[in-house]
Amino acid sequence: MQNQKVYISTYGCQMNDNDTERMYSLLEMADYEPVDSAIDADFVILNSCSVREKPVHKIRSEIGLYKDYIKKKPHFKIGVAGCVAQQEKKKLFKMIPNLDFVIGPDQIDNIINILEEVKTSKNKLVVTNFDKNPEYQIQTLIRNPSVSSFINITKGCNNYCTFCVVPFTRGREKSRPLKDLIKDVQNLVSKGVKEISLLGQNVNSYTSSCGAGFSKLLQAVAEDTDIKRIRYTTSHPKDFDYQLACVMQKYRSKICDHVHLPVQSGNSDILKLMNRGYTREEYIEKAKMICETIPGVSFTTDIIVGFPHEEEKHIQDTYSLFSEVDFDSVFAYKYSQRPFTKAAIWKDQVSEIEKSTRLAKLFEVHKSLAINSCKKYEKKIVEVLVEDIDLKNKILKGRSTQNKMTKFSSTDNNTDNNIESLISKIVKVKVTEASPQSLKGVLINE
Ligand code: SAH
Ligand code: SF4
Ligand code: F3S
Repeated sequence: MQNQKVYISTYGCQMNDNDTERMYSLLEMADYEPVDSAIDADFVILNSCSVREKPVHKIRSEIGLYKDYIKKKPHFKIGVAGCVAQQEKKKLFKMIPNLDFVIGPDQIDNIINILEEVKTSKNKLVVTNFDKNPEYQIQTLIRNPSVSSFINITKGCNNYCTFCVVPFTRGREKSRPLKDLIKDVQNLVSKGVKEISLLGQNVNSYTSSCGAGFSKLLQAVAEDTDIKRIRYTTSHPKDFDYQLACVMQKYRSKICDHVHLPVQSGNSDILKLMNRGYTREEYIEKAKMICETIPGVSFTTDIIVGFPHEEEKHIQDTYSLFSEVDFDSVFAYKYSQRPFTKAAIWKDQVSEIEKSTRLAKLFEVHKSLAINSCKKYEKKIVEVLVEDIDLKNKILKGRSTQNKMTKFSSTDNNTDNNIESLISKIVKVKVTEASPQSLKGVLINE
């Protein structure tokens, strides 16, 4: 019999990317065949995200695209996985009548049993229980690991920021044992991975069963594995401590010079309403401590505009934060009311028009500063992990340790073979031109 084919469409964060890869790996081991398009599939799974607006609408529109296959192939089954599945559970069947099954993020290791049941059962299936086991013991599953790969170190979140749905969709925070993570990293190294990104909603609250915290984990990955580069995301400002900055500095040859430190707002009253656990002043103080401990480190951040109660005077504090902390990139979003969250039912909601105006202004203010500040990279030498090559134009591409996308040329007399051999190597590049989005430069031959 022919293998059954599965297509997974992925929305949202790197956790979801990893979950999709995990489902594909498990399916392949059970003789299902992953395919690249829904047209060829027997099963389609939409791995959904509900962090911001209209997530159900997005799923419904994608499923709408499949209505012809649903008619043509009677055995064709569609499911929703991920955070919208956990959020809506069986309510999704009312909203999307063509749907056959719903799987929560804690159930993806049961994907095979679930599909087997979907095949035989006439009923629609909902499997959204959280895993009750206090342990989080898995092995990372990636079919063809790329030069730069991700591994989960924690799942869930206990912080309950008042805007955020994640604690409700991903459950309580759990950490993987340190020894499992070291094995995992070393296993990926043996498959050619050069850069590892340690993933969690709040990596700094990582606590291994042996008592090790995040700094210890970083140190162990740097010392006890042969990985060339280490990144991590996301760190929470309230939990970022001096010890972590010291470990980053000490193992700088491996741990990248980049900190993604989501501030959310530059105003202390709004931060309090958000339940973030730090003030504007404490955030600035922490960013200074990190800069002093790791000179040359780069910062990026996340910001929400139009949080309930936010007025012009509050957003001005967010704009002015850009003069205090030099952010290479800012990921900013209009506040979106999420189910179950505290802020969603507050009265003082900001109008959509006002949110859009503030968002546009915020990007403008950041851009005007970033255009000058990115010049700090010009004429400097950055270390780049080569991830991609445009052979026709002899242009190489990768990210600097500061996480800047860097495009660079090699010397003219290089053959294609020579250039291709650079892929997955860490090379030195002299920056000739810097923009807020990326760097351009030339390879330095040593
Ligand atoms: N754990 C990370 C954030 C994960 S969600 C942290 O604490 O930093 C990624 C980003 O989505 C957040 O940093 C926030 O800026 C944004 N976000 C989360 N909920 C949102 C909401 N309700 N409306 C708009 N943006 C939101
Ligand atoms: Fe959401 Fe806050 Fe947890 Fe981040 S720390 S996932 S924003 S609740
Ligand atoms: Fe990720 Fe979206 Fe869930 S950001 S944790 S998939 S809500």
